[in-house]
Amino acid sequence: MIPDKAPKEDVFHGSEDLRRNAHVPSFEKYKELYVQSVENPAEFWGAIAKDFFWKSQHTGRFLDYNFDVTKGEIFVKCMEGATTNICYNLLDLNVHERKLGDKVAFFWEGNEPGDELTVTYRELLQMVCQFSNVLKSQGVKKGDRVSIYMPMVVELVVAMLACVRIGAVHSIVFAGFSAESLCERIMDSQCSLLITADGFYRGEKLINLKLLADEALQKCRDKGFLIQTCIVLKHLSTDPEALVSSHSPPAKRACPDLEVPWNPDVDLCWHMLMKGASDECEPEWCESEDPLFILYTSGSTGKPKGVLHTVSGYMLYTATTFKLVFDHQPDDIYWCTADIGWITGHSYITYGPLANGATSVLFEGLPTYPDVSRMWDIVDKYHVTKFYTAPTAIRLLMKFGNEPVQKYKRKSLKVLGTVGEPINPEAWLWYYSVVGEKRCPVVDTFWQTETGGHVLTPLPAATPLKPGSATFPFFGVVPAILNESGEELEGPSEGYLVFKQPWPGVMRTVYGNHQRFETTYFKKFPGYYVTGDGCSRDKDGYYWITGRIDDMLNVSGHLLSTAEVESALVEHKAVAEAAAVGRPHPVKGESLYCFVTLKDGLAFNQTLEAELKKQVREKIGAIATPDYIQNAPGLPKTRSGKIMRRVLRKIACNEKDLGDISTLADASVVDQLFQNRCCSAV
Ligand code: WT7
Repeated sequence: MIPDKAPKEDVFHGSEDLRRNAHVPSFEKYKELYVQSVENPAEFWGAIAKDFFWKSQHTGRFLDYNFDVTKGEIFVKCMEGATTNICYNLLDLNVHERKLGDKVAFFWEGNEPGDELTVTYRELLQMVCQFSNVLKSQGVKKGDRVSIYMPMVVELVVAMLACVRIGAVHSIVFAGFSAESLCERIMDSQCSLLITADGFYRGEKLINLKLLADEALQKCRDKGFLIQTCIVLKHLSTDPEALVSSHSPPAKRACPDLEVPWNPDVDLCWHMLMKGASDECEPEWCESEDPLFILYTSGSTGKPKGVLHTVSGYMLYTATTFKLVFDHQPDDIYWCTADIGWITGHSYITYGPLANGATSVLFEGLPTYPDVSRMWDIVDKYHVTKFYTAPTAIRLLMKFGNEPVQKYKRKSLKVLGTVGEPINPEAWLWYYSVVGEKRCPVVDTFWQTETGGHVLTPLPAATPLKPGSATFPFFGVVPAILNESGEELEGPSEGYLVFKQPWPGVMRTVYGNHQRFETTYFKKFPGYYVTGDGCSRDKDGYYWITGRIDDMLNVSGHLLSTAEVESALVEHKAVAEAAAVGRPHPVKGESLYCFVTLKDGLAFNQTLEAELKKQVREKIGAIATPDYIQNAPGLPKTRSGKIMRRVLRKIACNEKDLGDISTLADASVVDQLFQNRCCSAV
């Protein structure tokens, strides 16, 4: 499946320099380790597990599973019976055993240039222990769910690791989500406590996070779900010392005078609680398959799925992928621009890097603020060596030309990475030649919230690169391409991307709904994990992701389901029916194009259009704001009433070649929709 010899033509290679010290220095070595990892996963991962601390050893098989729904319940277990604590492995081990206490864990860089803070491993451990004690004092126990809704500050990492330390399960909700989305997630995972902040700036825009959190808690109350405690971090402050320094709380600032609404029955001040908390806290020893965290991802029914990851497998997998995919070395300065509210931030800002004792940049701001050079300014400021970002950011910056990049030196850069959506070869080549000056391999990492870590990815010193291809599977991962009948295709082919066996980091269930887990990922093709992505394989065995083939949209690397957008639209009193599709967009990858059928007698106008956009933004969040809303007196449907989104996608793009439309119940609606196209969508 993986070629014996790597191709020599039309490929790009990592530099000699990188190869000399690399963990996996050649394609031959990759291949040798790969065979070992899939033929004998217990041995392969068992050797890696030796670098971690185990309070007690595993008793069951190293990796046990069933991927076949026809043979019973789907399950994956890794190192069953072992006990450990991830926070202990990430912090205590680095401080006490590996003597990295004085090493910088995070260079925090705020939204505003000049706002900065350095946190060492020792300081991070101290803060985490203190906050663990705070959580305990609020009655949080092992297994309890804690919701976190915070900006990109060090305290977000502190909050998540404090949960982990005491065996509580964090559920982080991206701070760009709406109050409604937060409420839905709090209720689905039955969280007992919420941690949030007063607010933050995204570029010049102030986000009143506390107001949104209050609104979410009110919505929960209205639905009969009560959260007793909300811990509020004061992040916005005119007092520079109060910015992030919770370990030395601002002396004169008592939090009740935050300029945000304060409900003394529910709200507690982060700084005040920390002040009195001891910085010693024995970790709670957890079993390998105990829940670690829940992270919501869009689901095709419109209701988000609570993806559940567990302790040992996730730890091994994120630590190993981080180490090998970025070829981590002790003196690296690593920067992942993602938000911790997404899986990329969980796995590759918090867990993977800290497990390796890495030094990372934690960035609160935007790539375009105060100007489009901000990223390169930060790269030079901290001498970033490994840089990980999204195709949408690359395409955005590319529009401004080379000058904003070339104003900065970028000499420190060694490896560049991308994640989130397919990267077009043009953007890949710009990233490679302009940003990396043809010196730095680009690792295009394909993975999902569900996979926990990279599953198809190059290794920077080993894999010959083809622009736009995520290349080959990571260790332990066995991909296959299936046709519609579920047959495995060999050689060059195109079809459904699936995986044949588990790797330690794969999700274990949908929180509270195991059946949904089985139906979503295992039912269509028994025996395989189905990604929902289309994929092709070329003559050299390289994998090329072609994008989602289910009812999902990928806007700027964020997944949305057509159903969740549609249900937000039909909640408006004027709307009878709605359909949402993706339309290719040069920067965002896809933009959101919606069709709405109004209730009888109502007229479509700009006011309504604006109301509908606002409605979706308020229900889901700004990332889901539709770019286009088209009046659709009728929608193209099959005779059985199913909306033909395939036809709508063509209309959104003004492509007249509709393919086979013989199943369409009423073909005249199509002409009408072509005539009514949004005039702004040329
Ligand atoms: C979906 C998963 C994984 C972290 C960010 C997104 C798309 C992700 C790539 C890539 C092509 C990619 C897929 C996938 N995707 N990375 N390198 N090349 N497509 O996590 O929100 O769970 O989305 O993102 O469609 O299924 P997510």
